[in-house]
Amino acid sequence: MIVLGIESSCDETSVAVLRESGEFETEVLSNVISSQDFHKLFGGVVPELSSRAHIQQVLPLVKEALKKAGTTLEEVEVITATAGPGLIGALLVGFMFAKSLALATKKVFIPVNHIEGHIFSGFLGGEKPEFPMLVLVVSGGHSLLLLVKSFTEFARLGTTVDDAAGEAFDKVSKLIGLGYPGGPKIQRYAERGNPLAIPFPVSELKGRYDFSFSGLKTAVLRYVEKHYPERHIPEQDLPNIAASFQYAVIRALTRSVKRALKEYRVKSVSLVGGVAANKPLREAIAEIGNNQNVRVFIPGFEFCGDNAAMIAFRGYTLYKSGYGSDFEAETFPALPEAGWGEIVNGEQ
Ligand code: KG4
Ligand code: ZN
Repeated sequence: MIVLGIESSCDETSVAVLRESGEFETEVLSNVISSQDFHKLFGGVVPELSSRAHIQQVLPLVKEALKKAGTTLEEVEVITATAGPGLIGALLVGFMFAKSLALATKKVFIPVNHIEGHIFSGFLGGEKPEFPMLVLVVSGGHSLLLLVKSFTEFARLGTTVDDAAGEAFDKVSKLIGLGYPGGPKIQRYAERGNPLAIPFPVSELKGRYDFSFSGLKTAVLRYVEKHYPERHIPEQDLPNIAASFQYAVIRALTRSVKRALKEYRVKSVSLVGGVAANKPLREAIAEIGNNQNVRVFIPGFEFCGDNAAMIAFRGYTLYKSGYGSDFEAETFPALPEAGWGEIVNGEQ
């Protein structure tokens, strides 16, 4: 079985082709990603410009992905696309394109939740994680901790009560003058800094798995206002600020993971989403797994940020689980407050 996936929820247009290689196992034949770098001129993603770029990119990328995969549209059985959450105009481009293509060529069409794409992206590497699995999703739009029991049962244990982890990286980066996107820039500066130089606070949400990053962001702002009233931070001071901020984010995330590992007996831990590209965070999660004797699955960089391979894989697992074509499906901008990720009630 060959599956085609299309992702267009934000500023990456991506198309992937997967081939089934076993039960709930696939091989990625191609995963082409076109990143809209021009948004950095505006300090963040401009939705209208993003939609226009997706329109220009989607058809050439479908052709390129099929060519790279060494296959043709005729051989594709299932077409999948991101339905949400994301920027609605951007989503509509990839989603309607995929739906029309499936309708015209009489293929199965499976709408995919972008976050579910991230959740199962740990399966895109060589080895397969085992359920039950604890998954930390950290991206520009979401921070979630989930207990995943199967491809169709998962429970949201915690989420962000304010900013997402990637959003915190992006906002602090802008605040200290490093620009957008913040994650990779902060990581680079942090490499030369001392993480213990500035004791930025990590907010404690008692007894819950939720995260909060807005207090940390405000603490960085107050620190900058106090020490640099002119708002000019000398180059030599940036590494310590970046390293101390990054350390605080990692502490907040790892604390929840450690706490959850005490409460739930899982076989695997997975770190996914754009922020999973952060090297010290990858190392911290890997170390927790080692200490607790739990296997750790962190996707390769290509599958951390937004990509269509994870969308195709999620669509494939839904299809394998009995979900059929859904041409009635619509795009949606945000995760529902309730009714998603509440399938299991905590106990195993
Ligand atoms: O998953 P993603 O590509 O898009 C969303 O679905 O949001 O995540 C993008 C986020 C951005 O906030 C970016 O700053 C962050 O991932 N990011 C990183 C790193 N690389 C990307 N954050 C920390 N360290 C990195 N190396
Ligand atoms: Zn994402």
